[in-house]
Amino acid sequence: MKHLLGIEELSAGDITRLVDSAVELKAERGNHSVQPLAGETWAMIFTKSSTRTRVSFEVGLNELGATSMFLNANDIQLGRGEPIKDTARVLGRMVHGAIIRTFDQQDVVDFANYGKIPTINALTDEEHPCQILADLLTIREKLGGWDGKKIVFFGDGDCNMGRSWAWASKRLGFELVIAAPSEFQPQAEFMERLGESPVLVTDDAIAAAENADVLYTDTWISMGKEAEAEDRLKVLAPFQIDDRIVGLANSGAIVQHCLPAYRGKEITEKVLEERQDEIFQQAENRLHAQKAILVELAAGR
Ligand code: CP
Ligand code: NVA
Repeated sequence: MKHLLGIEELSAGDITRLVDSAVELKAERGNHSVQPLAGETWAMIFTKSSTRTRVSFEVGLNELGATSMFLNANDIQLGRGEPIKDTARVLGRMVHGAIIRTFDQQDVVDFANYGKIPTINALTDEEHPCQILADLLTIREKLGGWDGKKIVFFGDGDCNMGRSWAWASKRLGFELVIAAPSEFQPQAEFMERLGESPVLVTDDAIAAAENADVLYTDTWISMGKEAEAEDRLKVLAPFQIDDRIVGLANSGAIVQHCLPAYRGKEITEKVLEERQDEIFQQAENRLHAQKAILVELAAGR
């Protein structure tokens, strides 16, 4: 693999190999026999806020021997209008890899094409592949794997997380239900691109929760959508993960949230606190999954 631009670009074999590698890296943490990125510098260009992604990449790069260089997009010339392709051509001659969080997926694609260095999508409006790989690791740890499991995504099904989950379901073949009001269901154009898949879209949150193995949610107001907050909170209210939804799921079901969580909105305070152990295990797994991505891309150069 040369880049990680989205789950869409991965095969089932790629995904499984990355999760397997994350399991191994997690087990040997603090005791790595080799540092495949020793002596390297990786740039992290972020246009949007981040806690988990930023910290896990900085720690992961350090543990694999590399130095990280955090570049707030507004502090570099990119923020004053320098094209992404020029930024990429400069950085591509100086650093060994790039991790980018921004709005437009095309910017990450362009960076990869012009920079010619391993490039990782650390969240765009289109996809959040690093999060999905950490989530799959957590599902493997907690449930033994995803085969035959019913994963239900509640909330804004037309955001990066809903789309990355849909690609994961298509590639790996597990059942994914997206429970969302009609305004926030994946758009027809996306479903067409997805093609034949095990993804079911519904506006019935109750039916979706029945016999679920994973109850998954994300903020209702993704970064960049703040102006729509009032409307979103109203329309999405019936899709909150609460005691009733949890009660309908299978007895061993887990609750997952990519975080940050907004209590009383997409999830109740009670459910979040009762399930904090599995939710923060999921957050920790960002580190292990991303180390697996870094090792894979270093090997693919
Ligand atoms: N889940 C996630 O990507 O968190 P951050 O926005 O804090 O990086
Ligand atoms: N859908 C959210 C994910 C945050 C990690 C957003 O894009 O803001």
